[in-house]
Amino acid sequence: MLQGKVALVTGGARGIGKAIALKLASLGADVAILDAGDPALSEATAGEVRALGVKAFAARCDITDFDQVTEAVAKVKEALGGVDILVNNAGITRDKLALRMTPEDFDAVLSVNLKGTFLMIKALYADFMKKRAGRIVNIASISGLMGNAGQANYSASKAGVVGLTKTIARELAARNVTCNAVAPGFIETPMTANMNQDALQEACKAIPLRRMGKPEDVAEAVAFLAGDGAAYITGSVINVDGGFFMR
Ligand SMILES: NC(=O)c1ccc[n+]([C@@H]2O[C@H](COP(=O)([O-])OP(=O)(O)OC[C@H]3O[C@@H](n4cnc5c(N)ncnc54)[C@H](O)[C@@H]3O)[C@@H](O)[C@H]2O)c1
Repeated sequence: MLQGKVALVTGGARGIGKAIALKLASLGADVAILDAGDPALSEATAGEVRALGVKAFAARCDITDFDQVTEAVAKVKEALGGVDILVNNAGITRDKLALRMTPEDFDAVLSVNLKGTFLMIKALYADFMKKRAGRIVNIASISGLMGNAGQANYSASKAGVVGLTKTIARELAARNVTCNAVAPGFIETPMTANMNQDALQEACKAIPLRRMGKPEDVAEAVAFLAGDGAAYITGSVINVDGGFFMR
């Protein structure tokens, strides 16, 4: 259970982030949502969190901007107290073959998925060190582990998240702070709803469990890594992909 803990979920307004926010709340954690999208969506999710009997705080924050990140983290601390669990979930895609991918497409995806994850960790790093406790869970992707045509920017960013996860795990281990990643496969969210549906159906045929995942499937793995049962796990990557990518 996570009673008395505060969880901060980036990109928590919808999709996988929303499922994570609700799962952690159902286990008793107070939840902060930082999202760059429509504030009404973040507020609606915060309302669903509160309905589970815990506190919620939502603020608009673009995680690529360190000033916004530091300001938002300060507001979260003011509203809910210090952060115990940081879930770096916010992410974007700009898929196209590398031939057509512009330098701006590359920068935009690296900036949110990788730099944004780093900035969030940086903003809470000293707090975690001082507390000598904390959990960081980064949402990577199997695309970062195996590559995916049309996703040079995205798979590079997610491979970067895995490297960042392992480095932070090593840096903060002596302070009793763990850092792990969850690598989802194909999950039913607004992100995949925007993909080419024929290509998605084709990819699904190669999933051993024969279905796309649900946001809740990812949230379960995050909740495990955030809980007491995962105290001795750090620097790991858990795939939640129906067996799509087996190493
Ligand atoms: N859906 C999948 O199949 C899948 C597979 C593997 C990994 N993932 C990863 O899971 C995470 C969540 O994906 P999703 O499918 O729920 O996506 P989504 O597009 O439904 O939700 C992403 C959320 O992140 C927010 N966001 C985007 N840029 C932001 C920024 N700069 N600052 C703050 N918030 C920002 C959006 O407003 C949105 O609410 C992402 O990191 C994604 O890469 C998703």
